[in-house]
Amino acid sequence: MRRLLFLILPQLLATGTCDTSLGPQQEGKHEGEMLSHWSYEDQNWGKDYPLCNGNAQSPINIDTGKATVDKELPSITFEGYNLKETEQLDLSNNGHTVQLSLPDSMSISRGFKQKYLASQLHFHWGSDTSPGAEHTVDGTQYAAEMHIVHFAAKYESLANAAQEADGLAVLAILFQVGAQDNKNYKHIFDKLQDAVEGATIKIPGFDINTLLPSQLYRFFRYNGSLTTPPCFQTVTWTVFNETVLISQVQLDKLKTSLKTGHRTLDSNFRQVQPLNRRIVFASFSSLTSSRRIVPKAGFSESDGTDNSANGIHFTLGDTLAVIFGTLFGCTALAFAIYVLKQKRQRSNAERGQKVIYKPAATMES
Ligand SMILES: *[C@@H]1O[C@H](CO)[C@@H](O)[C@H](O)[C@H]1NC(C)=O
Ligand SMILES: *[C@@H]1O[C@H](CO)[C@@H](O)[C@H](O)[C@H]1NC(C)=O
Ligand SMILES: [Zn+2]
Repeated sequence: MRRLLFLILPQLLATGTCDTSLGPQQEGKHEGEMLSHWSYEDQNWGKDYPLCNGNAQSPINIDTGKATVDKELPSITFEGYNLKETEQLDLSNNGHTVQLSLPDSMSISRGFKQKYLASQLHFHWGSDTSPGAEHTVDGTQYAAEMHIVHFAAKYESLANAAQEADGLAVLAILFQVGAQDNKNYKHIFDKLQDAVEGATIKIPGFDINTLLPSQLYRFFRYNGSLTTPPCFQTVTWTVFNETVLISQVQLDKLKTSLKTGHRTLDSNFRQVQPLNRRIVFASFSSLTSSRRIVPKAGFSESDGTDNSANGIHFTLGDTLAVIFGTLFGCTALAFAIYVLKQKRQRSNAERGQKVIYKPAATMES
């Protein structure tokens, strides 16, 4: 099996199994199509791809109340994301998703143990009847999800990095439907109908930063896998807490524009996988988190290294903590004063008694 995997791996990678697609330099579509027979209808992928039965698979449901707040997690530094118009990007439909190739001059660092270079971004979406994000948050499945795939710079390519424990870093952005078209996504969404399966369209470079949410310092982090076969457990996941809004028209375009064979390419999301023993970290604290720490002296919330610039706000939780802290402090102080006063009165009374009865006692004696 190992050997078989070894033999078919290059083809799997070449056909663009979603998170690991290699882009234009390695095509290999024909062998790939024969071997890449997995589908989203039957997600029992472990039969042919045993790693898909592993215990650190993706996507997962993120239980925000159980996430461990780690304020040491700094905001990611994005470099080279603002692409020149002269840079041509390949948009392609590989039968499982629509994917935009990205140059490895784009990179992310900070908050990771090493530097990761960009490879591609792609989408997951639902159907007429279902939303299509892969990660769910507190059981909610959002409308769609985008993955920006990066590989560790030291492995030099996506193919080399894909099977290394620290090989990949994927950024996940969840979409919700808003009232207006999101113009930042027009570069991609306006070209979807031209993305015939197997064909490649050129898109002029644009500022990829504009595809990201604005509160980049709020994210979840966990160790997981590719969400498509062969499901390598080599991905450091970052799921941003802030969603990005696209219009219903744009979402419908995503759901209906792409074809695979004679079918509409839709519902290309994997079911959530068991968390098992993994920990999900949150880079921010909130009211719902059970692990949050009451700010020292009430006002130390904004001392975070990364988020001061972005102006983290005082949450209701912080305010309540301060009010109750203060109330409790005052009550305790008042009580202490009361106890002291009582004690003093009692001892005065005792002394008084002594004073009062001394003469009597003296008289008695
Ligand atoms: C991911 O796994 C590595 C290696 O075991 C570990 O050092 C790191 O803390 C893990 N990260 C998360 C977010 O769990
Ligand atoms: C963002 O975080 C808040 C607070 O933990 C949570 O209630 C909300 O569901 C999260 N949303 C997403 C999309 O992560
Ligand atoms: Zn994906």
